[in-house]
Amino acid sequence: MTEPEFAPADAGSRPLWLVAQGDDGPLWPEGVECAFAKASGFAAKPGQICLLPGEGGVAGALFGVGKPATPADRPARERFTLARAAEGLPEGAWHLAGVPDSYNLAHGALGWLFAQYRFDRYKKAEPPRARLVCPAGVDREALLAMAAGEYLARDLINTPASDMGPADLEAAARDLAARHGASVEVISGEALAENFLMIHAVGRAAGPGRAPRLIDLRFPGDGPAVTLVGKGVCFDTGGLDIKPSASMLIMKKDMGGAANVLGLAETLARLGRAGGLRVLVPAVENAVSGDSFRPGDVLTSRKGLTVEVNNTDAEGRLILADALAYAAEEGPRLLVSMATLTGAARVALGPDLPPFFCDDDAVAEALYQAGRDHADPIWRMPFWEPYEAMIEPAIADLDNAPSGGFAGAITAALFLRRFAEGAGAYVHFDIYGWQPSAAPGRPKGGVGQGMRAILHALPRMA
Ligand code: BES
Ligand code: MN
Ligand code: ZN
Repeated sequence: MTEPEFAPADAGSRPLWLVAQGDDGPLWPEGVECAFAKASGFAAKPGQICLLPGEGGVAGALFGVGKPATPADRPARERFTLARAAEGLPEGAWHLAGVPDSYNLAHGALGWLFAQYRFDRYKKAEPPRARLVCPAGVDREALLAMAAGEYLARDLINTPASDMGPADLEAAARDLAARHGASVEVISGEALAENFLMIHAVGRAAGPGRAPRLIDLRFPGDGPAVTLVGKGVCFDTGGLDIKPSASMLIMKKDMGGAANVLGLAETLARLGRAGGLRVLVPAVENAVSGDSFRPGDVLTSRKGLTVEVNNTDAEGRLILADALAYAAEEGPRLLVSMATLTGAARVALGPDLPPFFCDDDAVAEALYQAGRDHADPIWRMPFWEPYEAMIEPAIADLDNAPSGGFAGAITAALFLRRFAEGAGAYVHFDIYGWQPSAAPGRPKGGVGQGMRAILHALPRMA
């Protein structure tokens, strides 16, 4: 993984003025000669750059940040606008010389770091050209730790299943644990057949060396008992209910929940805030073979509840159920699951606004506000009790895929909640984990969702 970095403060950096749009044109920062910028058509539109000439080349630049959102807590049209400067300015170090009061500098600086992410495992990538000197007034360590967590999550998601099978995901978790002194326990293969039958059933058809496993990380130190569970489906073919090719194409990202909880653990550990944290990742490949689990099979979960498999493509909730039950047994104060769980969540809110489910209003409000304030938007959806009947089939306690598919994100969340009983509070995130087309700071490919919302809400949640 590459390390996120700011430019050293002493390097001869050039000034960059951020300019907001007023009702009658740009709100020029004091003392900046604007005749040249005006003449060249600079209107302070979001992302607009105006290079300022000086002796021997470019002396500085103006960067448009558009109009402030009104009211201020309303979602702006674009996040991480300053990432456009990272991508568009000439090579070298830049420092912020002027920033409008309305501009959120921490988001901007984080966006700049996000824009410098490269996935270069298989192809040489151009290194970042313009670098930012960390501006005064932002928490440098926190920004770097958040960017490092984001980079890790992106790397894990972007790596194809050929190099990111269950064993590779275990190796990545072990690396993370080694970096931060966490302990690791892994239950794999046939050892799952006793107490984690659903993880075993989903993962048993994968090829040699790709056996299913449950990865269990514990971080040393004091802190509230918080357990994060991430869906680690390294590739989702759908199983015998096989996906059509268009739907299967990006299913290397089906371990996005695992990538996000590991990325969040990386951030927390770097900030010295991981004490008491536990991370569980059920890691499997949902493959097709003579040994695949079948539609109609009835599985007995770790919790004892029986589950009728009505669709082998609803595999995420099966492996998460066993991991959640295991997590809930020790009664953590807060239990969080993150999973690329349903297509229905995308239909409801789109790829960029992950829903979360939580019965505790105070916890939900803390999460919503933290997401809003830290450029990591999320939206609450309900554990809608009246739909419980939809997940109760004829011949077993639970149904993994109710027919009809109505309220698919909710019925999946209700299914998971059955296994999370015993935790103080339970929160479930149904994330997409993928940037379908490039946006500022977020190149096409794996992306973190919900990590910063959880990070900043943690003190209010646990
Ligand atoms: N990993 C998929 C969900 C998914 C698909 C997330 C596309 C993001 C993008 C999950 O395992 C799945 O296949 N879910 C099914 C459930 C259905 C069979 C009840 C779905 O959503 O179609
Ligand atoms: Mn599936
Ligand atoms: Zn899946």
